[in-house]
Parts: sequence; C-alpha cells; structure tokens
Amino acid sequence: MEYNIAVIPGDGIGPEVVDVSLGVLNKVAKKFNHKFNYNFLQAGGCAIDAEGVPLPENTLKECKKSDAVILGAIGGFKWDNPEAKIRPEQAILGLRAGLNLYCNLRPAILSKWLKEVSPLKSSIIGEGIDILVVRELTGGIYFGEKGKAVVNGVEEAYDTLKYNENEIRRIAKIAFESAMKRNRKVTNIDKANVLESSRLWRRIVEEVAEEYSEVELNHLYIDNGAMQLVKNPRQFDVILTDNMFGDILSDEASMITGSIGMLPSASLGGNNFGLYEPIHGSAPDIAGKGIANPLATILSVSMMLKYTFGLEKESKVIEDAVSKVLEKGYRTLDILSEGKIKVCTKEMGDMVIKEIGGM
Ligand code: IPM
Ligand code: MG
Repeated sequence: MEYNIAVIPGDGIGPEVVDVSLGVLNKVAKKFNHKFNYNFLQAGGCAIDAEGVPLPENTLKECKKSDAVILGAIGGFKWDNPEAKIRPEQAILGLRAGLNLYCNLRPAILSKWLKEVSPLKSSIIGEGIDILVVRELTGGIYFGEKGKAVVNGVEEAYDTLKYNENEIRRIAKIAFESAMKRNRKVTNIDKANVLESSRLWRRIVEEVAEEYSEVELNHLYIDNGAMQLVKNPRQFDVILTDNMFGDILSDEASMITGSIGMLPSASLGGNNFGLYEPIHGSAPDIAGKGIANPLATILSVSMMLKYTFGLEKESKVIEDAVSKVLEKGYRTLDILSEGKIKVCTKEMGDMVIKEIGGM
C-alpha cells in the first residue's frame, strides 16, 4: 500500500530523531512492500525564523491532505520567551486544534530491560509498569477564553477551564474502548472537589461507564492521583484526564518508566487520521550532538502504523525490534546504566533497523 505522510522535523533534536525514525520506517516499507511518501514541512521556531509564524498556512493545509503526520519537536532557547506574542508552542496547539486531534494517547510502559533506570524501587515496579494516559487535547484551560487587563492600576490575567458534555463524552469513550483491549480498568483523574468543570466531567464519565459494564471505573483527585502514580503505579491501567492534568501526569508517568526519551504519543481525531510525536520536547541543550534517544519517535512511528494505517504486524515488528535492541544492552545516554553499551542517536536507529531485518 502507499501512504502519504506529512513530516515536521521541527527544532532542537526533532530533526535528528525524525531522520532516524524515517530510516526505520523505510526498512519496514522494504520488508513489507509498502510505499511511504514524505512531505517535509516547517513548524515551530524554524518556521518563525523562515516565515515569521510558528504554523504557516501551507503546513496546516498539507497536513490536512496527508494520511498521517509525524512531528519531531518544537521550541528552543532562541524563542524561549513566554512573554513573546509569537511562540513555537503555538504551532503544536494550532496543529491540534486545526486537525481536530482531541484525543492524546500516551502509553507509559517500563520495558523489562530498563528497570534499572526507573527512579522507583524494584518493590514498587514489581513485574513492570504499563499505563495508557488518555488525555483530552483540544479543550479545557488550554483553549478556553483567556485575557489580561489592568484594573485600577493592577495587572490581571485569566484562563478559562471549560468543557462541554460532548467533549467529555468522546474522550471518555476512547478511554473505555482502550481499557476493553487492555486490563479493563479506567481511573478518571480530576479535581471534582473544587472545580465545576470537573464535576460535569465526572458525571459524564460515569454515564459513559454504564455502557462498559466490564470495565472497572474509579476516580482520583489530581493531587492524590499524582501521588499514587509514584506510590503504586501498578494500580493503573488506563488513566483518563483533561488537557492540563494530562500534560502534567504524562511527564510524571514518563519519568517512572526511566526516561522521557522513551515515550511515544498519538494524537487522534476521527477517521483514523493522527499526529505522532515523542512526548519529549526539543531538548535544545543536547541538540546537534547526535546523542538524543530516538526510541520515543521510533515508537511513535510504530503507533502510526497501528492506529492510522491498521498495519498491526508492521507496528509490532518495530516494537519487538526496540525491545530486542534494549535486551542486547544498547543504550543512549539518557538510559545508560552500568555494563551497558553506549550508542548515539544514529547507531540506535541502525540497531533497530538491523533487528527488523533479522525478523
Ligand atoms: C506536550 C507539551 C505541550 C503541551 C506544549 C509544548 C504546548 O508539553 O505535548 O505535553 O503542553 O501540551
Ligand atoms: Mg507536556
């Protein structure tokens, strides 16, 4: 089959990890006789420099025409002024809104080969950690009305956290559907003891739960949820949460699995279309050094094969290859531990490609 993929390498380590991941994808294409066409596009800091805007119209237009989007990372020291009117992050938010990607899947899996790099004790890790964070991505405080003013000489600013029942229902359904394919447990995380929007959120989640009698549902307040995630991460299967809590919890979940350099993500709307990106950022401190971990992007590409193209076998081949490479002891700097073999970004990609070839 032939697929058209929009590729946004972005800033910092983005281009390095994307380059290596496309190498992996090309290997899969060859092995399974597919054709992947890449349409390279600009967004983020590099687009600000080249065109004066973080998300050029053409980029969004081309993404809409494609079957899926691969995004590296965007942002960097050069554009890192939260007071600026034009910021790289607007590209990510613009893509999410413009492509209606309301569902963000962030699997946090601690590979059995990486137990030693998790900061958690082995008694807590036990047999391993496998959590799927289902984060609402186009609503809530990120997209609510915001503004600033000076009132009686005093500066003020506000952001509004608002959800309607439809936005909650569609993301809740995805959490329950995902749980049906996993361990049939959904933990909803909100702040219903304080926030009105969380109370509506919780009520709608409970309504959706009625259609899924085989799935166990429980609720946690965000503060307790953040604590439970490090205290006993094995209690979680699917975590359902809103945009901002999901942002925070997914970074926390990534750390307990060893490194943020390992975690992929899928941002989905309808019709199987999706944007795939590592959850790590542009890491400008290590950009250009060739030492970044490409596995999060490689695993994002694997998610693309599964969720958008329905290529389950091809997706699994990448996952298995990554696992094999870790088993053999190859490690980028972020996941390096004693006795393991240190490799750079490109070498890690080559190892994965080699494993795919041998499968
Ligand atoms: C993420 C990032 C983004 C977010 C930023 C870059 C806007 O932190 O994808 O988690 O807050 O969603
Ligand atoms: Mg984040």
